[in-house]
Amino acid sequence: MSPDPVRPVLPAGFRWSAATSALQIEGSPHADGGGRSIWDDFIATPGAVKDGSSADPACDSYRRSDADVALASGLRLDRYRFSIPWARVQPDGRGTGNTAALDHYSRFVDALLAAGVTPFPTLYHWEMPTAVEEDGGWLNRDNAERFAEYASIVAARLGDRVAHWYTLNEPAMTTLQGYATGALAPGRQLLFDALPTVHHQLLAHARAAAALRAQGAAQVGLVNNHTWVQPLHDTAEDQAAALTYDTIHNGVFREPLLAGTYPDLEAFGLPDMPVHDGDLALIGSSIDFYGINFYNPTTVTAADPSSPIPFDIVPTPGAAVTGFGPEWPIVPEALRDLLIDLQGRYPEMPAVIIGENGASFPEPERAGRVDDKDRIDYLARHIAAVAEAVAAGVPVEEYTVWSLLDNWEWADGYTQRFGLVHVDFASGERTPKASYDWYRDLISSSRSEN
Ligand code: NOJ
Repeated sequence: MSPDPVRPVLPAGFRWSAATSALQIEGSPHADGGGRSIWDDFIATPGAVKDGSSADPACDSYRRSDADVALASGLRLDRYRFSIPWARVQPDGRGTGNTAALDHYSRFVDALLAAGVTPFPTLYHWEMPTAVEEDGGWLNRDNAERFAEYASIVAARLGDRVAHWYTLNEPAMTTLQGYATGALAPGRQLLFDALPTVHHQLLAHARAAAALRAQGAAQVGLVNNHTWVQPLHDTAEDQAAALTYDTIHNGVFREPLLAGTYPDLEAFGLPDMPVHDGDLALIGSSIDFYGINFYNPTTVTAADPSSPIPFDIVPTPGAAVTGFGPEWPIVPEALRDLLIDLQGRYPEMPAVIIGENGASFPEPERAGRVDDKDRIDYLARHIAAVAEAVAAGVPVEEYTVWSLLDNWEWADGYTQRFGLVHVDFASGERTPKASYDWYRDLISSSRSEN
């Protein structure tokens, strides 16, 4: 850890945000008529969640949303990224929309606006209604249209006050961990047979984007989680393994949006995407900004030839690690390199928004002030990496910390704390950490320097 975190300089008008997602903070998933989601099913599967926890009450934010708005406003954020769960709005995955849930988010949007924070909702942060999964989930092309109908219902209610939308969060995690390995809901283990979910998610995003624009949206995009992939050894085998991993984690989600095409999957022995006429034109013209979540790089080596998967992910040599251990190495320069590489590939790309960046570290469970120097160091060095990329010409316009609050980390339950604010999950008490004060001061000095 460096003793004195650098203070990065970003251009005038650069925007600052913090993020959460519904299931991870809200609790009460079935209040106001909320329906069953694939996460209810996953949580009910013995052994699926590391600490055996459920996401209820998490931070109890469905009932304490005023406290969260006050925390967002205390940071003087430009925007707050939160998510709206499909299964609250369409409990059975179809129909005209659950008024009580829409009322809840309408009040929440009003509260953010009254506090001077622009609402920036995500429409899919992994909570598919069970009924949609039972109809094939993202393996079924027809569900792209169902997602667009849901987007349209939300926009009809909030679109008079919400101008900026994220459609999908991290479709790569849904494909790779939700449908290929089963580490996340819906827990399918289809390996490469999961690949059609890439295309159906991108199609769902593009159709939802069209529906949102039809309701007057000003800015629509999605968030891809990218990683900077490096071979462990400088050998042809490791380079080939790294390229395969880079293609299925980054390339297949990026190329259609930024270049209107898929990488040559046949070259990797992978099946082609189930593309219909017109799909790629729609997807290739669907974004007003390109969202990127970044946490860590990935080091890859060639797998044993008998393995069904040609690569192994290994610890990054020499890197410090977060609360996840060697799975999550800390290499801020990887974010700079990734952004500069992206600009080189797509010189005409739209504005970039960093939709999430942050780190978990072991911290106390009970309420109290946390002096989270490791998190400040992680954030400062990643923001400095963004500033270097901006200085090199990459059009990054916004940076978002994951997360405003400690929360429920999916299959890792309550074992990982990412918040600028400590949450005591037994009492719901919120206590800003040192990183909260640091981020607030960074935002205010960034504005006064410009
Ligand atoms: C990305 C996901 O969008 C978010 O839900 C998750 O908590 C963070 N990564 C940290 O793992």
